[in-house]
Amino acid sequence: MLFRPKTKVCLVLLQVMDIIEQIREEFPALHQQVWGKPLIYLDNAATAQRHRKVLELQELMSSRINANIHRALHKLSADATDLYEAGREAVRNFIGAESREEIIFTSGATSALNLIAFSLVRSHLTAGDKVLVCEAEHHSNIVPWQLACEVSGVSLEVLSVEESGEISLERLRELLEKDDRIRILSVNHISNVLGIINPIAEIVRIAHSRGVLVVIDGAQGVVHDKVSVKDLDCDFYVFSGHKIYAPSGIGALYGRRSLLENMPPYMGGGDMVDRVSFGRTTYAPLPLKFEAGTPNFVAAACLKPALEFATAIREDIQVQEHEKSIVSTMVQGLQQIEGLRICGLPQELSLKVPIFSLDIKGVHPADAAQMLDKMGIAVRSGFMCAEPLVSRYSESGLLRVSFAPYNTLSECEIFINKLKLVTDMLK
Ligand code: ALA
Repeated sequence: MLFRPKTKVCLVLLQVMDIIEQIREEFPALHQQVWGKPLIYLDNAATAQRHRKVLELQELMSSRINANIHRALHKLSADATDLYEAGREAVRNFIGAESREEIIFTSGATSALNLIAFSLVRSHLTAGDKVLVCEAEHHSNIVPWQLACEVSGVSLEVLSVEESGEISLERLRELLEKDDRIRILSVNHISNVLGIINPIAEIVRIAHSRGVLVVIDGAQGVVHDKVSVKDLDCDFYVFSGHKIYAPSGIGALYGRRSLLENMPPYMGGGDMVDRVSFGRTTYAPLPLKFEAGTPNFVAAACLKPALEFATAIREDIQVQEHEKSIVSTMVQGLQQIEGLRICGLPQELSLKVPIFSLDIKGVHPADAAQMLDKMGIAVRSGFMCAEPLVSRYSESGLLRVSFAPYNTLSECEIFINKLKLVTDMLK
């Protein structure tokens, strides 16, 4: 060992660095250069890199176990079906749902929210009813509701967030008390722009006390917080695979069984039927009722290794501490940059996950993102698919930096230094 630690703190730091290095080894995409520079990938809220075991299963299934699921009697089909259903069991276990019937595979969080919006509005709402969404929603939790409202006579209401980006529970209570036509509340667990953990358990309690159903967009929530749909007692919870180390094209929808039983299918075709005739068609039992057509069975199976990895790091105290260090290092470092505003900074830093959206006076976010890219640093700029929220902070969008557990503190420090350089050059 080159450096012999003298204090306990040094030892702990070295252990954490060691764990993060081991995690990095599991992600081949991190070990490459872009524009001749080592890649520093800080766009994880858009898409995270895929774990080695995910890539291995993807390759195995594509090359050897490529057969349609739930249909044929041959061995390949049975093996593919087993892997697909193992993916479902992994999701059930990961989010603490009671039964496999409550887990529906979709192509991502967006299609899950579309399914819920169109099906739930038909089965549970009548003209004049209202759906409440939060101002800090991704377009995927706004537009499906707007579309469903257009065809049903239901209308959309908005719960605005505080200047800090937090949801006021007081305002939520008041809104629900004032308006008994609000029947559904659809809200994010963690916003993809603000990176603030919303008090969703409390939100569910408040909504349920008024008889309002709660849909949670967990696209960022499953990545940075522990989720138990049973403890939360939410009605729906959705997430995407590609943000949690799995491939794109797969997502999952949890729905309370009694609700799903009474909701009509969203799409028709393929395996979602029981009997089909021109006179009358009946549907397959849950969960297949909502899985029309050949699903992305390879990606669904890959959720198992991805979620096993996510569970292991979620339970590792040192990885949790590392995430907190990234947050505090970022906040301290960014606050040194003149004219920079962190959009979404709660009083309590423990509520902030390492997703930072920045507004820098005199600097266009697209220019900064392009310059950082040339330095090997991948970040996102623009409206982050959350235009109503982002326009509140800036007309030209924001610069977003989002970390995963494989990002090191040294990457965080390099980013802050390069951002200082870039802002000095652009101002
Ligand atoms: N929803 C993704 C993001 O936040 C694409 O960047």
